[in-house]
Amino acid sequence: MCGIVAYVGGREAYPVILKGLKRLEYRGYDSSGVALLSDGLVVHKRKGRVSVLEEELTGRDLRSPIGIGHTRWATHGEPSDRNAHPHVSRVGRLAMVHNGIIENYVQLRQELAGKGYSFRSDTDTEVLLHFIEDIRDHNGCTLEEALRIALRRVVGAYVIVILDADNPDTLLAARKGSPLVIGIGRGEHFLASDASPIVEYTQQVVYVNDHELAIVRPDELILKNLGNERVTPWVQSLDMELAAIEKEGYEHFMLKEVFEQPRSIRDCLRGRLDMTEGRIHLRGVEEHIDRLKETQRIILLGCGTSWHAGLVAEYVFEQICRVPVEVEYASEFRYRDPVVRSGDVVIAISQSGETADTLVAIERAKEQGALILGVLNVVGSSIARLSHAGAYTHAGPEIGVASTKAFTAQLTVLIMMALRIAEARGTIGRDRHLRLLQELDAIPEKAQALLADTSAVRRVAARWARARDMLFLGRGPGFPVALEGALKLKEISYIHAEGYPAAEMKHGPIALVEEGLPVVFVATRDAFHEKLISNMQEIRARRGSVIAVVTEGDTLVPGLADEVLEVPACDPLLAPILAVIPLQLLAYHIGVEKGLDVDKPRNLAKSVTVE
Ligand code: F6R
Repeated sequence: MCGIVAYVGGREAYPVILKGLKRLEYRGYDSSGVALLSDGLVVHKRKGRVSVLEEELTGRDLRSPIGIGHTRWATHGEPSDRNAHPHVSRVGRLAMVHNGIIENYVQLRQELAGKGYSFRSDTDTEVLLHFIEDIRDHNGCTLEEALRIALRRVVGAYVIVILDADNPDTLLAARKGSPLVIGIGRGEHFLASDASPIVEYTQQVVYVNDHELAIVRPDELILKNLGNERVTPWVQSLDMELAAIEKEGYEHFMLKEVFEQPRSIRDCLRGRLDMTEGRIHLRGVEEHIDRLKETQRIILLGCGTSWHAGLVAEYVFEQICRVPVEVEYASEFRYRDPVVRSGDVVIAISQSGETADTLVAIERAKEQGALILGVLNVVGSSIARLSHAGAYTHAGPEIGVASTKAFTAQLTVLIMMALRIAEARGTIGRDRHLRLLQELDAIPEKAQALLADTSAVRRVAARWARARDMLFLGRGPGFPVALEGALKLKEISYIHAEGYPAAEMKHGPIALVEEGLPVVFVATRDAFHEKLISNMQEIRARRGSVIAVVTEGDTLVPGLADEVLEVPACDPLLAPILAVIPLQLLAYHIGVEKGLDVDKPRNLAKSVTVE
């Protein structure tokens, strides 16, 4: 949440920062701002998208070889010009951008108010900046020392970057709990919340660790811990291509990412699904296979779409590994004082690898002795570093705020994990194992076939774009797909949608059904098919409209449904990977029909680094 970009070097900082902020807008987009040094400290900030700021600054002389920028997702204080970052210190010589939350800011604010400080904004960020400046002025120490002292008192999560008009070639940054990447160029450095603003300038990057301070000059990068000891920067090569973060002709990132799924699923399987040997190779799983073989319980943790991936995986793990599985919202798990035993395995599912709730939940489970495996998309992310092992999803950067290709890649990885663990536990027969491998291998091609003709889903979207409510129903692994379909629709089209197990309908939600209410069934062929057909009849009897995702060649449902969306046949355990795709497209096309910004839905941000 919140995107930070900063630059110091031989180029003009402003264009680098502006472009970077546009790349980071998925992290928050309610206001943005920049601070530069040209003839003193200059700060521009505006409520609204980065384009609002850009428009305002067009034609201005903004020459500066150093600068910091920010795109905000509001936590403290409404989106407004005055709450936008960068914030400026009392004396007006320091500017700061911040991503995260300072939890003890009220106390710090009171202390500062007692010393005569007043505040121009409602933010925790401004408080922190005043606090740092106050320590510096009071102790007569350097800004770096003051920052170190301040951070020892701060409770919360942050990445901050400070621009000091009295030190015009130096940026000062610090991190705890939110991501910060530093790109190393020739005589220049780039700082950002992720690598996307950096990739076109350099492939060499350093991921700053928690409790580290970075002192960054054009030719120098110094990392220190809070004890003022130097830390050797670990320079890594970026595994990201520029094309991956551009729209490549698609109207929206979301659409591009939906269409990328045949490739992203294939990338996810590559080198892991070995059809010659009939085996799954996942290094992170292999390293702990003895423990996984013996475990008595697997806990899957995630939020939002990642939690839905966990719910699908529950069916797969229980069916083929015969191990009890619990799927938990990370945010609930962490505060419930859960019973975790040392033999338990916790699988943390997160696209970004930065979700604060998931991060803290696995910290708790790790303290209690659980083995932590990560299923993550972003390499080097905070959860990756905290996990004992895991498997990356290799879906590539996901820019659209609503998760699409990350979800299907998560399912793919989780299914591979389950297959390997089932094999080790001896809970799956050789034939069933091999058949599932073959089926998995065929998924990318089937996803491709499904996406070759999306006219039906566009027709459905046009017909129901003005709906006020929608129900999504499914059974078995189709139930979490229904939840995911409802979540996508809510996020992208702002239509109220509810996902339910189809059998639950008669226990309450059926009261909502009235003439014309669109009810989406995830009705691919499986053991529950006939029961689901009965549920459709119940909807029809009450004059609801039925939209059904069905397996190609289904002869029963088309007679009952107002519209069908076909997906290729596959094993029911894998069907969620295909069945979700029409629902992603349904949400997308309805959003577009309604003229909404599908890549940046209101109030949302992609990397949820606050609790
Ligand atoms: C929905 C969506 C969110 C995320 C959730 C967890 O489209 O994207 O529900 O799934 O915020 O994020 P990650 O997976 O990054 O932990």
